[in-house]
Amino acid sequence: MKQILVELEQRRRDARLGGGERRIASQHAKGKLTARERVDLLLDEGSFEEFDMFVEHRATDFGMADQKIPGDGVITGWGRINGRVVFVFSKDFTVFGGSLSGAHAQKILKVQRQAMKMGAPIIGLFDAGGARIQEGVESLAGYADIFLENTLASGVIPQISVIMGPCAGGDVYSPAITDFIFMVKDTSYMYVTGPEVVKTVTHEDVSHEDLGGYRIHAMKSGVADGAFENDLEALTQVRRLVDFLPASNREKPPIRESFDDPARDEASLDTLVPANPNKPYDIKELINKVVDEADFFEISPDFAKNIVCGFARMDGQPVGIVANQPQVLAGVLDIDSSRKAARFVRFCDAFEFPLITFVDVPGFMPGTKQEQGGLIRHGAKLLFAFAEATVPKITLITRKAYGGAYDVMSSKHLRGDINYAWPTAEIAVMGPREPSRSSSARRSAIPTPSRRARRSIRPASPTPLSRPHAAISTT
Ligand code: HXC
Repeated sequence: MKQILVELEQRRRDARLGGGERRIASQHAKGKLTARERVDLLLDEGSFEEFDMFVEHRATDFGMADQKIPGDGVITGWGRINGRVVFVFSKDFTVFGGSLSGAHAQKILKVQRQAMKMGAPIIGLFDAGGARIQEGVESLAGYADIFLENTLASGVIPQISVIMGPCAGGDVYSPAITDFIFMVKDTSYMYVTGPEVVKTVTHEDVSHEDLGGYRIHAMKSGVADGAFENDLEALTQVRRLVDFLPASNREKPPIRESFDDPARDEASLDTLVPANPNKPYDIKELINKVVDEADFFEISPDFAKNIVCGFARMDGQPVGIVANQPQVLAGVLDIDSSRKAARFVRFCDAFEFPLITFVDVPGFMPGTKQEQGGLIRHGAKLLFAFAEATVPKITLITRKAYGGAYDVMSSKHLRGDINYAWPTAEIAVMGPREPSRSSSARRSAIPTPSRRARRSIRPASPTPLSRPHAAISTT
């Protein structure tokens, strides 16, 4: 027995080394942590329970029978974040570039299914080169099985993906079906096909960074919901996000004790919104003053900045905030801001986050670029998301609410439960011609809450549930 235990411990030590010291050193030299170091930082100390540590691939072609590494390039299991259970898988780039074999896929599928059975979030840490070339179709099948589990889990458990290295092929499609994608600046890339394939097919010369770096996905394409300086910051921020989220759609988002008096007066709110309707102000300042302890977790802060989305708490209750940003493009709704907010609203609806919407919107962005890009379809996504949402919806018009954008931004006609207007609010079918404050804007008859009431807005009693839906829709 003693000998068996000694051998078992030796096998564990070998498995923990993954692709070996040389590749671990290379990983560190690139400024990246190893798959195991990442799991340790993500989870509460000592809470990780690993599955399938000794699983190996079953391929024999291309000399693979002689190249077996225990764990086969992915570390899987469960642990806790601030005491709450999460499931995790972490791709090990030191083993065949983290590429996906049939066995590797089975390991991921196991944690996906366990997370669904338990009703707990799942977090994937990606640093991988896609399908394992040596396994061919076996690998494609594995990805399709994972994509199916991602899809079935959408709207049931929160799914988070962190891109921490060069990710290609299937290792970007699976994250794309999850609720949130975060990247690490300068060490992570996401693309369906890498620069070499691009060069062959389209004759374009493009760098990894320009094809799929964080500047592309967190700022232009909107594929990523945020980018962080390094592995440590990314993992710390994921822990912060998880604190806001319910374990599944069977639970409510966790209420935390608030040290911020919900009846606190915030005198500066009286002067924050400028009297001149053309003068910008920072809606994030307003959000920070309204929510508990100015603690706001923003989603996609660098993409479609004309709308602000994120999680906060009010008197300890987690809420989803959607707000036009007058500081960027006057807060206009366009293709990108509509799809960014629509996705967020659907997540909030699926996971029971009351929605607080701050409205200061001059309308939809006119122009050929927007129309040819499908503004009608994308704008309708936001309209649909707000209309469909059955969570408590509180809307506060801080200044302009013009045209169709008034309707879209959680108006009372879309089942807003409580719709407030500040004294500065203007609702009109379109803005006045002159930049000066015009009487042509029809004032709202919506009651204006006192400053104290504004601060202590509480969700109304829940509206009846409608049909369940996935958190993420690609329609
Ligand atoms: C097997 C792979 C691999 C892969 C990398 N490796 N990708 N092994 N299958 N897909 C191995 C390398 O052979 C190397 O092994 C080690 O991982 C590190 O790779 P490097 O190329 O040295 O690293 P780097 O220069 O950092 O480049 C990383 C990379 C590049 C950008 C990911 O390796 C790459 O382009 N890989 C191929 C990407 C790809 O085309 N994947 C298939 C996508 S199709 P050694 O032994 O030297 O350490 C796909 C289909 C699913 O995924 C689609 C579903 C919709």
